[in-house]
Amino acid sequence: MFYVGDKYKLIQEIKQYFPKNIDTFIEPFVGGGTVFLNIEAKKYILNDVDQYVFDLHNFLKGQSNEKDFLVEVLKYVKKYNLSRSFIEDIVPKELKEEYKKTYYAKYNQDGYNKLKNDFNKAKRKDSILLYILLIYGFNRMLRFNSKGEFNVPVGNVDFNKNVETAIKDYFDFVRKKEIKIENLDFKPFIKKNGFKKNDFMYLDPPYLITFSEYNKIWNEEKEIELLTLLDELNERSIKFAISNVTTYKGRKNHIFMNWMNKYNSTKIKSNYISYHDNSNKDFEEVLVFNY
Ligand SMILES: C[S@@+](CC[C@H](N)C(=O)[O-])C[C@H]1O[C@@H](n2cnc3c(N)ncnc32)[C@H](O)[C@@H]1O
Repeated sequence: MFYVGDKYKLIQEIKQYFPKNIDTFIEPFVGGGTVFLNIEAKKYILNDVDQYVFDLHNFLKGQSNEKDFLVEVLKYVKKYNLSRSFIEDIVPKELKEEYKKTYYAKYNQDGYNKLKNDFNKAKRKDSILLYILLIYGFNRMLRFNSKGEFNVPVGNVDFNKNVETAIKDYFDFVRKKEIKIENLDFKPFIKKNGFKKNDFMYLDPPYLITFSEYNKIWNEEKEIELLTLLDELNERSIKFAISNVTTYKGRKNHIFMNWMNKYNSTKIKSNYISYHDNSNKDFEEVLVFNY
């Protein structure tokens, strides 16, 4: 789906630590879904507390024909006059020369803002419009203000071949698999699903010490609740792996660092740092697992 903070660049590194034979793959913090889409299992049980993330997955999962879906997307992309290099390059040469690195943002700005207004005005939120906003928006974020209005600015991005391939791969995968997705807080989600010996849970919660939109709904209390639940799963011999950031810009997540000592862990080469930021040394991402 492409989503802020996704594990797209790290999935190959992370998955080498995952168990080989998985009956049910469980993801309480599924986000854009990069992880489950790259894991072989018999069944998938997914969850995200964000209503819009949940709606988007359900909407995409319910698309039975990818050609019809792309035709529908294209209808709106044309209506709002957005760039669409997956089928044609319509950005004028002069604009590309004038704004060498930002011409997509310049070109798409007006249409994107119009689309955003229409989406916000509509009573029933149309998931296809939200999908298009996600694709053309800044940093692939889903962010809403206190009035419930989508408020992400335009990104310097385009519906290109990569986006087309990603959505086709998504359809291809979900069509073949048995997937259930829920829209709960992680605690009731984990408690209500009875897991078995060959099931495996991967967790990518908001990181207590970094900054992201979804970190606003995360705090020390949630962190402790989650880690306590994982200890309970461990006692029941259910396998899990959890990603987290232990060090970021002078901050340390002591709660997590103390907790992880009793399990196995490995450092992960992170994709979190932006290239404007040279504080790489001040950053540490880990994967912790109980097997
Ligand atoms: C770091 S992101 C996951 C990114 C994902 N691994 C990917 O590749 O796209 C964390 C996700 O947790 C969700 N989340 C935040 N608080 C939650 C909670 N209490 N219960 C369940 N999900 C939550 C957020 O909506 C967000 O999508």
